[in-house]
Parts: sequence; structure tokens; C-alpha cells
Amino acid sequence: MPETSPAPRRITTCVFDAYGTLFDVTAAARACAAEPGREALAAVAPRLAETWRLKQLQYSWLRAVTGAHADFWQVTGEALAYAMEEAGLGEDPALAARLMDLYRELDAYTEVPAMLAALKSAGLATAILSNGAPEMLASAVASAGIGQHLDAVLSVEDVGVFKPARAVYDLVGRRFGTAPAEVLFVSSNGWDAAAASGYGFTTLWVNRAGLPQDRLPWAPRFTAPDLTTVPDIAARA
Ligand code: LAC
Repeated sequence: MPETSPAPRRITTCVFDAYGTLFDVTAAARACAAEPGREALAAVAPRLAETWRLKQLQYSWLRAVTGAHADFWQVTGEALAYAMEEAGLGEDPALAARLMDLYRELDAYTEVPAMLAALKSAGLATAILSNGAPEMLASAVASAGIGQHLDAVLSVEDVGVFKPARAVYDLVGRRFGTAPAEVLFVSSNGWDAAAASGYGFTTLWVNRAGLPQDRLPWAPRFTAPDLTTVPDIAARA
């Protein structure tokens, strides 16, 4: 009998980064700045949000390469303390606590619920794969009302190291029994999408801000300005 070639492997599973991809990480500073009596924060909110995010990611990478893991809630709080000092807000425990509370309930981008529902209707498995600690991810998923569209919420806490360590991306195959190429991994973080390509996932970089592509040994397979085209990309990848 002639050998038959294996059937082409289609996307079976869509996996999303959480912070910055499904959830708007600038929403906490913006919402807090709109509260009465927050004039000092309002004057620096965009810069605070940017530094907070940058330091949060830098600290995650530094902890990963030095083996000094702490969960993402702690890292997020430490990054906020740096960002507040840098923005001239000093030490303000009440303000820090309010910002951290709002971080638990970040807005999801508007297209997220319909996009996830379309993937489920098409018969795909869906999941989050995030640096986030399980409790913070559970709060964000619940407050965004998207839990019914997700088959799994996977946290790096199961492996004790942050992205882009390969052990994190391994969590997807462990949960779903998938080969990397049948996974569409979606991230707004260029470095995450690139490293996930290096891992072997089919990748989509959601480049909302129109940023240049990261200069790394790997590149995302697809790029889109937001999440609306994820179901189409999953169908044709
Ligand atoms: C995450 C960070 C990287 O959700 O945004 O994993």
C-alpha cells in the first residue's frame, strides 16, 4: 500500500495571553484617576500606567533568569511601588491598594466576548495562558464575564517561572494534548508572540499600538491590529 501523507494539521486550540491581550492593563490607572480627589494621579496617569507595565514585565524576566520566582501579584505590586515613586506620587499605601484592587477587575477589550463565542461556535478549544497568579486571573475573568467561553485558565504558577520559559508554553500541551502547531497562540506582547513562535506554536501578534516588530530570533506568523479577526485566522491558518 502506498504511504498516505498525514492529514494537514489545523488549528484546534486558541490560547490567549491575558494582560494587555484580553485585558486592558491601562484601565486601572485610568479608572482610578477619574475618581474624585485623584488630581495628583490624573496628572501622571498615562505615564504611571506605562512605567507600571514596563517594570512588571522587566521584574518578571529578571526573576525568571535568576530563578527568584515570586507570583505575579507580588511582582505587580512591586512594579507599582517603583512607578508611583518615579511619577512623584511617593509612598501612598491607600492609593496603591486602590490601584491594585482595580487591577483585579481590568476591563476586557470590547471585542473579546464575541470573538471567544465565535471560536467556541466553530468548535475550537479556548484558554488563557498567563503570567498571572490564579486568583488574579479568576477575578479578571469573572469581572469581564468571559468564563463561559474559556475551557481553561492556565497560570505560570503551575511551573513557577515566567514567560517566555518553554516550561510555560508546555502547559498547553499538558492540558489539551495538542501538538504546538495546532495551537494558535495570541498575544499583544511582541516578545511573547515571538518566543511562542520559537516554541512551535502558530502565533498571532495583536499589535494595537502599531509598534515595530521585536528583534528576536523568531517572528510571529500573523499580525493584526485587534482581536476581531482571530476566528478567521484560526480557520485559515
Ligand atoms: C501575561 C502577561 C505577559 O498575561 O501579559 O502573561
